[in-house]
Amino acid sequence: MSAISEIPTADRLVGQVIVRASHVELYRDGQEVLRDVNLEVAKGEILGIVGPNGGGKTSLLRLILGLDRPSSGEIELFGEPVSRFREWHRVGYIPQHAVAFDPNFPATVRETVLLGRVAPRGVFHWFRQEDFAVARSAIELCGLSGLEGRRVGALSGGEKQRVFIAKAIASRPDLLVMDEPTAGVDPESERRFYDLLGRLKDELGLTVIFVSHDLGVVSARVDRVACLNRTLVYEGPPRALHDEALLRTLYGGGTVTIAHSEEEPHTHGH
Ligand SMILES: Nc1ncnc2c1ncn2[C@@H]1O[C@H](COP(=O)(O)OP(=O)(O)O)[C@@H](O)[C@H]1O
Ligand SMILES: [Mg+2]
Repeated sequence: MSAISEIPTADRLVGQVIVRASHVELYRDGQEVLRDVNLEVAKGEILGIVGPNGGGKTSLLRLILGLDRPSSGEIELFGEPVSRFREWHRVGYIPQHAVAFDPNFPATVRETVLLGRVAPRGVFHWFRQEDFAVARSAIELCGLSGLEGRRVGALSGGEKQRVFIAKAIASRPDLLVMDEPTAGVDPESERRFYDLLGRLKDELGLTVIFVSHDLGVVSARVDRVACLNRTLVYEGPPRALHDEALLRTLYGGGTVTIAHSEEEPHTHGH
């Protein structure tokens, strides 16, 4: 018989911590943007970040990505302070409004996804067979087969979004960060996006952090949710998104309705 206490400590740890934010504060022009944010994202987890506009979601992602510096507190990526982190090829980032870029963007789907191989390969190296193979499998995984030769600018919002994801995963990241990836895409593309999320986690073991406004879908599709309104109002299992009191605290009013998925208990509005 083996008691839990006999198992070596390391084996009991749930998983490697990929992102850790400790007591993070951010001020911009004297205004408080983030207050005492504490967050851990474990390897293989899908974390959804929700919250009102201006709540600091993009700002938090930018701190995690080392694009901005917190006013105080610590951010660690893969166990290292972000200021010292150098393995940026392990991190993929799709910024907010990525799909609204130049409609005349001249590259094809195949070329754009292949560009995802530049980071791991280095700019001054020719692509190898392996790069083409990885790009091909990313295209396939993202449901873009048949569109390889099309110009990205001419694709639908949902297809463009999947091109960006394919490009990001072609560099074989361990962490993928996406800011409102489902904003402005049609419901069918949104469904495909969430199916793809599941495959990225199951087949590639990716850790994913993304921002979304679709509370109903998020609550059904993520491992954990972080509710951010300048500070973390809630962080934990996503079923809490059905708690009306929490939503009121998060959004500060009765303005939020949550789309119900069939399995989840309903939240009744007043
Ligand atoms: N580049 C910027 N310069 C000054 N203030 C900014 C900038 N970006 C965001 N802010 C402010 O920081 C706060 C948080 O914004 P943001 O992180 O974009 O929130 P969210 O992504 O949740 O909508 C808001 O008050 C916003 O006005
Ligand atoms: Mg934002």
